[in-house]
Amino acid sequence: MSAAPGTVPGVSRSSTQQSSAADLLVVANRLPVDQVVEADGSTSWRPSPGGLVSALAPVMRRNQGAWIGWPGNAGEEMEPFEEDGLTLVPVALSEEEVAEFYEGFSNDTLWPLYHDLAAKPSFHREWWDSYVRVNQRFADAAAANAAEGATVWVQDYQLQLVPAMLRELRPDLRIGFYLHIPFPPAELFSQLPWRRQILEGLLGADLVGFQLSGAAQNFVRLVRQRVGHKTHRDTVYLPDGRVVRARAFPISIDTEGFEELAASEEVQARAAEIRRDLGNPRTLFLGIDRLDYTKGIHARLRAFSELIADGHLDVEDAVFVQVATPSRERVDQYRQLRDDIDQLVGRVNGDLGRIGRPAISYLHSSFPREEMAALYRAADVMVVTPFRDGMNLVAKEYVACRLDGDGALVLSEFAGAADELRQAYLVNPYDINGMKATMLEASRAQPKEVARRMRAMRKTVSEHDVSHWASTFLTSLAGDPESHTKQTHPAEES
Ligand code: G6P
Repeated sequence: MSAAPGTVPGVSRSSTQQSSAADLLVVANRLPVDQVVEADGSTSWRPSPGGLVSALAPVMRRNQGAWIGWPGNAGEEMEPFEEDGLTLVPVALSEEEVAEFYEGFSNDTLWPLYHDLAAKPSFHREWWDSYVRVNQRFADAAAANAAEGATVWVQDYQLQLVPAMLRELRPDLRIGFYLHIPFPPAELFSQLPWRRQILEGLLGADLVGFQLSGAAQNFVRLVRQRVGHKTHRDTVYLPDGRVVRARAFPISIDTEGFEELAASEEVQARAAEIRRDLGNPRTLFLGIDRLDYTKGIHARLRAFSELIADGHLDVEDAVFVQVATPSRERVDQYRQLRDDIDQLVGRVNGDLGRIGRPAISYLHSSFPREEMAALYRAADVMVVTPFRDGMNLVAKEYVACRLDGDGALVLSEFAGAADELRQAYLVNPYDINGMKATMLEASRAQPKEVARRMRAMRKTVSEHDVSHWASTFLTSLAGDPESHTKQTHPAEES
């Protein structure tokens, strides 16, 4: 099925809709903008963090959709409003809900559990109660704003109960769910005291999307084991005759947007300025991450500092620029991480730096897209080494910005992006010696070899951009006519 230019397949304006009811709704924990309270008490809006927003906003704008989400601070109810071509429907969270639903269950229980226990998850029953209450609020908001027969696309681990809650309220809707982070194997997921409720929540969707096929398989296996439904390959057969499909849809970036940005004179000039300010090093290594313990920042900086200490690299001609975007700062594990990185950077620069030549240039800050594009253009070696990552859009953004076809990408094999960017210099982020060897290899590789790899990766990123991702998901959600109707499961199930 092919879509009319500029529209998303499966989404059409319904004749019966009221003016406020939308035909395509995204339900995500965050609105694409955060409300910021200034010192004088006035409020303003700024783009919210995370890859999800940059991934979905263009698709939503083209389809006059509504976006339901949290404005990013504890606060009062707010009316829906228009911003930059989107209808935004704020869902309010109280102080207690920010602590229990967002910082607690979402980011101190689910986040570490779904990322291979990169930190120890905390299980608290009151956090779970808050997760249920807040998910119900999002489901109510979606039900109230959806036109008859609308398509609702629920996003990510914060809202896994919404699909079933929404189906209960509005059986007329097509409901899709997409998980941006990894879905763990049964052995890990089964630790969760509320495992069955989460699986049943997700089964409210018609289509459950994951980054990788392994995650979809983990989900189907868990549904069979823990809920007891019949399954066959990517399909779950519910007792009431409904079917749910679980498939992989690797997310991507606004490739053209990044290419245009990288081609602009301002960005090129800024890239040159960055290199000059760093003393025109021969090799500029770059890391850009949310400050998160899954990202492997500490191990990567340690590997780099050892290369200098061992004499393989010299601060006169190599520097590591690490940007760490502040994130979830009230969660203990994140506070601890910040202290650990501060301490490591201080020690490395104290021990190995020279006047005007730090080994690591560390920026704990978030930057606009233009500055990111300039950094991508300025870097010789991009180092992306998460212990576990659903996809990692930074790796794809770097590739999109390398308009001249040069630049090396060192990439963890445990990032979802490694499935597609096979020509990156792949590393095991737990293996410090392996990372050292590969970072060195990437920095010394022949330009021809670097270009060969980058060419292949650029082809992948330009062919599979974020609109391809969104339209593939929405086509699959709208397609499969048999999945709209009740059906019996086939004789042969697994
Ligand atoms: C990841 C998650 C997103 C989240 C983003 C930023 O990319 O998959 O759902 O929005 O991190 O995290 P935050 O907690 O600030 O929303």
